[in-house]
Amino acid sequence: MKDLEVFSTVRSLRERLESKPKDAKVAFVATMGALHHGHIALVKEGFSMAETVVVSIFVNPSQFNNPEDLEKYPRSLEQDIELLKAAGDVIVFAPPVEEVYPAEYQELELDLGNLETVMEGTFRPGHFKGVVNVVKRFFDIIEPDYALFGMKDFQQLSVIQFMVETLRVPVEVVGCETVREPSGLASSSRNKRLSESELKDAEYIFKTISHARSLVQDQTPVEVRASAIAYHEESPLKLEYLEIVDPRTLMPIEEWVEGARICIAAFCGGVRLIDNAALIE
Ligand code: PAJ
Repeated sequence: MKDLEVFSTVRSLRERLESKPKDAKVAFVATMGALHHGHIALVKEGFSMAETVVVSIFVNPSQFNNPEDLEKYPRSLEQDIELLKAAGDVIVFAPPVEEVYPAEYQELELDLGNLETVMEGTFRPGHFKGVVNVVKRFFDIIEPDYALFGMKDFQQLSVIQFMVETLRVPVEVVGCETVREPSGLASSSRNKRLSESELKDAEYIFKTISHARSLVQDQTPVEVRASAIAYHEESPLKLEYLEIVDPRTLMPIEEWVEGARICIAAFCGGVRLIDNAALIE
C-alpha cells in the first residue's frame, strides 16, 4: 500500500490542494484522531461524493471544558494513518496548535441561541464555541465542497449546519448515520479508555434507547422519558441527561413529532459517553 500524504502546515496543504484539477470536488472529514469504524465510514462516504478527501486529525484544545478530558484524550497518529490507508488515498492534515490558532487568529463569535444552552451546551459550557471555531477555521483552509459529520454527535451536527447557514459558508454539510459496535454501543474514541467490564456497562446506553423505542407506540414523550430514565438508573452508569427532543430545535417535546430523538449523556467510570437515535422515523 502506498504512503498517504500527510501535511502539518496550512501552507503545504494549500499548495497541495491548489495543484489538483480545478473541477475536482473536495470532501472534508474533521476528526480528533483515535480513529475507528465511525470515522472510516465518513471517509468512505466522502469518496462516494468527491475525488479528493481531506481528513484533519487535530485534538482541539478550545472545545475541551475539562482539562483532564483533554489530557486523557487518546492520541494515536501512526495507527490512525494505517487505518486511513485502508480507506483510500486520503490527504491527511495533522497540524500543531500554532498552525490552527496563529498569534493573529481572531476568535469567531457566533450566537448559537438555544443550540448552546441545551443538553451538551448545559454540561459543557464553551464546548460548541470551540467546535465552531475550529471547524470554520478548517473550512477556510480547505474550502471543501462537502463536509461530513456523524449523527453520533447530533447536536454538533446541528450547530455546524447552523453556522454554515448563518455565515453562508459555501459547503454542503452531510450528516452520516451512527456506526455501532455489534453490542449496539456507538463507536467512539472514548471507548478506548474503558475497561472490559466498563465496555459491558456502556452497552446500557443503547439498551435504554431500545427500551424507549419499544414504548413509543403507547406513551407520550414525557412518559417515555421518565421510563427510560428509570430503566437507565438500574445501570452502573451515572446519567447526566436523557432528553427526547425535536430534531430541528433540540428542545424537549411533549407530543410526538417526525424524527423525534432521544439524546443521552452518561459517565461510565470516568469516561463521558453520548449517544442518540431517532424514536420516530
Ligand atoms: P471526533 O469525535 O473525532 O469525531 C469526528 C467525526 O466523526 C464527527 O463528525 C463525529 O460525529 C463522527 N463520528 C464519531 N463517532 C462516530 C460514529 N460512531 N458513527 C458515525 N460518526 C461518528 O467530533 C469531533 O471529533 C470534533 O468535535 C471535531 C468535529 C473534529 C472538531 O474538533
